[in-house]
Amino acid sequence: MAKKRILSGVQSSGTLHLGNYFGMMRPSIQMQEDDNNECFYFIANFHALTQLPEPALLRERTFNVALDFLACGINPEKTVFFRQSDVNEVQELSWILSCLTPMGLLERCHSYKDKLAHGQEANHGLFAYPVLMAADILLYDSNAVPVGKDQKQHLEVTRDIAIRFNNRYGETLVVPEPMIAEEVAVIPGLDGQKMSKSYNNAIEIFGEGKPIRKKFMSIVTDSTPMEAPKTPDTCNVFKLFKLMATPEEQEELRQRYLAGGMGYGHAKQALYEKYEEYFREARERRKELAANPQKVEDILQDGASRARKVARATLDRVRAAVGLA
Ligand code: ADP
Ligand code: TRP
Repeated sequence: MAKKRILSGVQSSGTLHLGNYFGMMRPSIQMQEDDNNECFYFIANFHALTQLPEPALLRERTFNVALDFLACGINPEKTVFFRQSDVNEVQELSWILSCLTPMGLLERCHSYKDKLAHGQEANHGLFAYPVLMAADILLYDSNAVPVGKDQKQHLEVTRDIAIRFNNRYGETLVVPEPMIAEEVAVIPGLDGQKMSKSYNNAIEIFGEGKPIRKKFMSIVTDSTPMEAPKTPDTCNVFKLFKLMATPEEQEELRQRYLAGGMGYGHAKQALYEKYEEYFREARERRKELAANPQKVEDILQDGASRARKVARATLDRVRAAVGLA
């Protein structure tokens, strides 16, 4: 049976947070365990360039995303893990797909409008972002793409472009499916809105010391008084706790919410301790990797060379189909 190709990417546009972890990284990493899957994961540094970071910062963030991902459990023996910019074939496919992409399709993208609303400058890269993302996905004949809910529209754009391509040039591209797990579709941030690097409401995966504890303590809750019973399922603290705790631990905290007499400070402390424990091993692994940057670079280079083989084959097919070869 042909293996199922799973692909996803994360931009190196800041420090990775719990939204990235539970929404995209954990489900992606779990996919490795099934031998029927063949996973391709990459660091979208071309996409991060749309925000024009300082060169040293872009480099540093890209390296940090590699560390985060590897520390969280990517197994480079099984999974092809690479840097987007190391496989330049994606740019050629992106151009070819661009020519098939109606302006209106991109004009409707929420993520673009949202970024403008948050003060980002409207450059062409930002506008064309979904086309490059479609190229990322289609270049590797991906069957399924695990992402958080905010990427759903980008997946629809990708499917739309692939279908247009196949209609015009004959069956050439694999039409991918999004994989969005409902329970982790939107992880709330400190303020209860979707956690995001750009909303200043994120909890880093690998935060340490007082500043991170302070963040946990600042999670917004309602104003139910200490004595009164509280509703766990609408509480941001409980929502985050649920992601990391065992069913028994969840039930115990749930009962304390329902019984009353527990302040939110207590729940936040429990959450903070759970977080410390949950990421403890990964934090150790991250430190070891950080002390060995050459090893990380070697993994990325090896990933790029494996990715390039697949990319080349797809691109040859595409070039032939459109009349470039
Ligand atoms: P950010 O919003 O912080 O810029 P990205 O857009 O780089 O995050 O997202 C990287 C991946 O993490 C995507 O698959 C995205 O859907 C997922 N993700 C980000 N934030 C969340 C969240 N709060 N809940 C669920 N998934 C998320
Ligand atoms: N746009 C995605 C995000 O912001 C990152 C990304 C780029 C991606 N290319 C991709 C995700 C391809 C999945 C597949 O998170």
